[in-house]
Amino acid sequence: MYLKLTHLLAVLAAVPAVFSSPIVENSICAGQSTISESFIGKDKNVKVQYISCAAGPPDTFQARSVKPRQTNVCGKTCNTNCFTPSGGGPDPNECHVIADALRYESQNTGALFQIGTGTNNTITMTYRSCLSFFVNQDFGPEVYCRTDFADVIDWVAPHCQSAQNAHGGNCVASDQTWYIQVQNSTAPH
Ligand SMILES: *[C@@H]1O[C@H](CO)[C@@H](O)[C@H](O)[C@H]1NC(C)=O
Ligand SMILES: *[C@@H]1O[C@H](CO)[C@@H](O)[C@H](O)[C@H]1NC(C)=O
Repeated sequence: MYLKLTHLLAVLAAVPAVFSSPIVENSICAGQSTISESFIGKDKNVKVQYISCAAGPPDTFQARSVKPRQTNVCGKTCNTNCFTPSGGGPDPNECHVIADALRYESQNTGALFQIGTGTNNTITMTYRSCLSFFVNQDFGPEVYCRTDFADVIDWVAPHCQSAQNAHGGNCVASDQTWYIQVQNSTAPH
């Protein structure tokens, strides 16, 4: 996975600010509400939320294909975009706690997790300064591997820091049917 990810650091480009909601912790869309909440990891210290967005899901891209059945997207490549400018990004060490919690759950709960569509298309992971979330932009449910999620977090968090003139970033699936974002949990990107 790491080898696969190394050639993925494609664009270090500014992406437009998409989320304009007020700054509250873990706010990623307008009219956000929590569908369910739990804690994962060996120490049960990483918060997991399925969230719903009243004003529609926080899609940054339109899905391009209609796939009504559940689609397994494990192992699919994604392209990294860092958010400029530098300063105020998440602490990569705290993001790494989320990645390790995902690896722990992969071993103890299951390799896969499911993510819905429509207003139930987003799952967030939070530990201290680090917020990471997965958004399904496809028309049907998706299944993804917890270890892949962990690897993307461990790639994006340290590679979208001040040294790269960045404060977090995302990794958008090559076919744009999903993306994973890593950002400061108390600041908008
Ligand atoms: C996250 O953002 C908050 C609010 O802007 C800031 O005070 C904090 O230093 C940031 N965290 C890190 C690790 O930079
Ligand atoms: C949201 O999606 C998850 C994953 O597919 C599912 O387990 C859960 O039941 C859904 N919740 C609602 C309220 O639709």
